[in-house]
Amino acid sequence: MSEISAVSTPGELLAIAVRVAREAAVTARRMRDEAIGDVQTKSTDTDVVTAADKAVERQVVDALLAERPGDGVLGEEYGDSVAVAPGAVRWILDPIDGTVNYLYGLPQYAVSLAAERDGVVVAGVVCNAATGDEWTATLGGGAWRAGRRLSGSVRTTLDQALVGTGFGYDARRRAHQGAVLARLITRVRDIRRLGAAALDLCLVAEGTLDAYFEKGLNLWDHAAGGLIASEAGLIVGGLSGAPAGKQMLVAAPPALFEPLHDALVELDAAGGP
Ligand code: IPD
Repeated sequence: MSEISAVSTPGELLAIAVRVAREAAVTARRMRDEAIGDVQTKSTDTDVVTAADKAVERQVVDALLAERPGDGVLGEEYGDSVAVAPGAVRWILDPIDGTVNYLYGLPQYAVSLAAERDGVVVAGVVCNAATGDEWTATLGGGAWRAGRRLSGSVRTTLDQALVGTGFGYDARRRAHQGAVLARLITRVRDIRRLGAAALDLCLVAEGTLDAYFEKGLNLWDHAAGGLIASEAGLIVGGLSGAPAGKQMLVAAPPALFEPLHDALVELDAAGGP
């Protein structure tokens, strides 16, 4: 374990996160522009995405540890950098959330970066690398986009709700997720699958989606977006009182959380592989 970096407020950690995430988003975007010829010719699809994912993660880890050497970083590609001491900051990073969109040039891919202390996320930023749109939050300080405080959707009935979701990569899991959706879709206004969980959570925080759920998310998919959604006043949780996690994450305004939660329990959305 290394020494603890200077104690910082959530606002100070957010300022670092925003600066580092913006630089990372520029790299992700540039690498896509440069590599796109390779996608169509020599490299495999996954080579291009993996190279960008790794390069962006390395850049973020290096930038964070240069500034705050006692911190840890958990990233999608390289895992945990070091074990963090009690009270120290652990950064949680998805270098490119929405990798399939990245591959296809759909403008829904993002750098997601959160600061966690003693297991509690205290600051987070999600930066859409294709568009530059950015959402931020600090614990107790609200959720924000472009100077506007976010407060989620005002819709109150599930049958009027536009509900976002996503699918895992494993075919057997997808089969279960598809079966759940086939039954849920008759009870909601419509379903959206935009392809980047961090952005889904930001859209639900600002009310562009009414609610969101997904099974199988990793911490780096939802650490920053989950704080942004909860600071916007949404309930972010799992099923039957469990915290949001791998088994299930539901994010919805208080009026929609219970009906969506109950439908997901009835449809066994957290079940299956
Ligand atoms: C994926 C995206 C997708 C979600 C998947 C995630 P990745 O992350 O967030 O929307 O449905 O569960 O794994 O692989 O693009 O970083």
